[in-house]
Amino acid sequence: MPQKSTNTIRKTKRKTKKNFINIIKVSKKYSLGEVLVKALDNVTVSINRGEIVSIVGPSGSGKTTLLNLIGALDYIDSGTITIDGQELSKLGDRELSFVRRETIGYVFQNFNLLEEINAEKNIEMPLILSKKPKEERKKRVEELLSAVGLLERRNHKPDQLSGGEQQRVSIARALANDPEIILADEPTGNLDSSTGERILKLLIDLSKKNNKTLVYVTHDNEQAILAQRQLIMNDGTIIKDFSI
Ligand SMILES: Nc1ncnc2c1ncn2[C@@H]1O[C@H](COP(=O)(O)OP(=O)(O)OP(=O)(O)O)[C@@H](O)[C@H]1O
Ligand SMILES: [Mg+2]
Repeated sequence: MPQKSTNTIRKTKRKTKKNFINIIKVSKKYSLGEVLVKALDNVTVSINRGEIVSIVGPSGSGKTTLLNLIGALDYIDSGTITIDGQELSKLGDRELSFVRRETIGYVFQNFNLLEEINAEKNIEMPLILSKKPKEERKKRVEELLSAVGLLERRNHKPDQLSGGEQQRVSIARALANDPEIILADEPTGNLDSSTGERILKLLIDLSKKNNKTLVYVTHDNEQAILAQRQLIMNDGTIIKDFSI
């Protein structure tokens, strides 16, 4: 039963350190009319709990595809992806929603904030979706606003915030439900390089402090080496994987 298996996911938390995210022989093709694009080609890689990993590679090399598959935002064609021992392709819709809501926090290049509501409501949204009680939500939003240095901007809507501030709101939102994994696809791609570096350092710092596993994509080599480990992709495969 979905509810039961959902509980199983909760209970298995903090089980594995090694191979926390385990990707084995994963391929993904996209078809556009007659044309088949091999976005990922037999990729095998595993990431430990708490690791900070950057992914770089030319445009079209499969970085977003890999991140989306880890994040259960898309389906694999073949191979397996397990997160803390749970194989994603064996989970039903309800369980996948649970993983997306509770296990993973997403940070996007274009922030993806809700324009109509202010910073604090944006941060609160995942907590509302997880049906957290009001008092708990209030306390958590306060902590998060403080962690990203935005207590004074809490009432600002996204269009009343700078790009860096918007990305800080989205980092706080990603952390709201205390997910195990943070996935960030070019989180600094829309920011100038000095703001970008500050924001990425904040994301890395918060991930380390809270024992999160962080996987981020970047086009900036200076930012890539802020991770503990770097993956270089080309043509749907990982061509290099090294510690920094
Ligand atoms: N929905 C889709 N339909 C068809 N082809 C797609 C789709 N998404 C991605 N692709 C193709 O898959 C390949 C990998 O795309 P992906 O978005 O993973 O690259 P990327 O490394 O993130 O590139 P970028 O640095 O430009 O963001 C590309 O050739 C792309 O054109
Ligand atoms: Mg991409």
